[in-house]
Amino acid sequence: MEKIIIFDTTLRDGEQAPGASLNPQQKLEIAFQLEKLGVDVIEAGFPIASAGDFQAVKDISRKIKKAVICGLARCLKPDIVAAHKALMAAKHPRIHLFLATSKIHLKYKFKKAEDEILRIAKDAIRLARKHCADIEFSPEDATRSDRAFIYRVVETAINEGATTINIPDTVGYSYPQEIYSLITDIRNNVSNIEKAVIAIHCHDDLGLSTANSLSAILAGARQVHCTVNGIGERAGNASLEEVVMALATRKDVFGDFFTQINTKEIYRTSRLVSNLTDFVVPPNKAIVGKNAFRHESGIHQDAILKKRSTYEIMDPHDVGISSSQLVLGKHSGRHAFSDRLKKMGFNLDAKQLNTAFMRFKDMADKKKDIYDDDLRIIVEDEVRIIHPVWKLESFEVSSGTKIKPKALVVLDKKGKLLTAQSSGDGPVDACFKALDKITNLKAKLEDFRLEAVTSGKDALGQVSLKLNTRGVVVSGRGSSTDIVEAAIKAYLDAVNKPKSK
Ligand code: KIV
Ligand code: ZN
Repeated sequence: MEKIIIFDTTLRDGEQAPGASLNPQQKLEIAFQLEKLGVDVIEAGFPIASAGDFQAVKDISRKIKKAVICGLARCLKPDIVAAHKALMAAKHPRIHLFLATSKIHLKYKFKKAEDEILRIAKDAIRLARKHCADIEFSPEDATRSDRAFIYRVVETAINEGATTINIPDTVGYSYPQEIYSLITDIRNNVSNIEKAVIAIHCHDDLGLSTANSLSAILAGARQVHCTVNGIGERAGNASLEEVVMALATRKDVFGDFFTQINTKEIYRTSRLVSNLTDFVVPPNKAIVGKNAFRHESGIHQDAILKKRSTYEIMDPHDVGISSSQLVLGKHSGRHAFSDRLKKMGFNLDAKQLNTAFMRFKDMADKKKDIYDDDLRIIVEDEVRIIHPVWKLESFEVSSGTKIKPKALVVLDKKGKLLTAQSSGDGPVDACFKALDKITNLKAKLEDFRLEAVTSGKDALGQVSLKLNTRGVVVSGRGSSTDIVEAAIKAYLDAVNKPKSK
């Protein structure tokens, strides 16, 4: 099996993402985690770019001893000197030199001819080699460069001592077949290519960075540049977790390759990078997004409960996520609902389960997130009220700053619908007066408490109250996303209870 070297550039290209900047302390914290993750190379920064970046590369060089520590440099003497100084304490230092080779960069960025570029690359590599044995060279914008020129540049770079040749798709323009033929052509047309490792560096402007990186591996690249969560310039870089998990999951295609990544550290690393950069991971992000191992649809949940692999190609444990989640929502089915209740310790009979499920569906239509506490309340209601005399059929309330609150309540008493209207001091008071009229109970409210049971704006409200009817005090509880409905349910819960002094 051949090893794929994981070159992590979260701290360099990733940090170049607008708004992602990290201070040296934060970079060091991420570097420690990258070491635990098992990356082979940490591109720690661009030492000439700022004092902070210089410091970060220096600190990381001093503290991280397993991985190769790499500093970026243009093909300019001050850059190379700065990189060398920053990397001085590293056990395994690498200088990464880059120089654009595409016609568009030569014409507009440098105003230089190809031969001049070749000479600049040659001199820079020669100088860098005096300070460091491990040199990576990148012909920037390689995928838009003239092939024949790329061969010349790469051959020269290797002759001067570059040990790794990185092929960047700088503007994320390429596609998998093209990358495959580019790497193949480089291998077939550069006479000394066997003396260097071929690397690939893909950007995600067309959403193809992972596919392009994998294609490069199939064509002969043995090092992949990537970043945690795919952060990087513009649309970002190839995401480390996607490349690594694609190699690990598709053994049928990539069975000849392995990485040294401890995949169980992937999720923790993703969270750390997201927290320190303040870059939120989209919920649908492959591998590390909040929804990557969550299922809501009833058909999927049912199948997952029968056999996880029906709808999951990876085991969440393998990336450090404790378990898949069956999210209860409006698309969920009875199987997942009863499974969750069993796990929560409830054992309902078929009839109770049926009504609880109907109430859950009703709640899911109104509420986005259903928590275990929501379910607990639904179930407790079902278990508590076995044969209610009074059931709420419907209600309407009107209230506001300039109108007197009014309520219209319809109750079902053993199949018969009874209606009453009333006004009150507030919508709850108006409802309670209407309820008094229907039930003919002159109930006195002794206690009334409202609390949010779950979190979020659409939290379930729970009303607990005490009603005194002719000296008998009975408590009641009701819950709903609508607090007036919760109050009515609490009232009915109390009046439905058998009375005892
Ligand atoms: O995208 C790019 O070309 C780069 C180089 C510095 C390798 O980041
Ligand atoms: Zn880049």
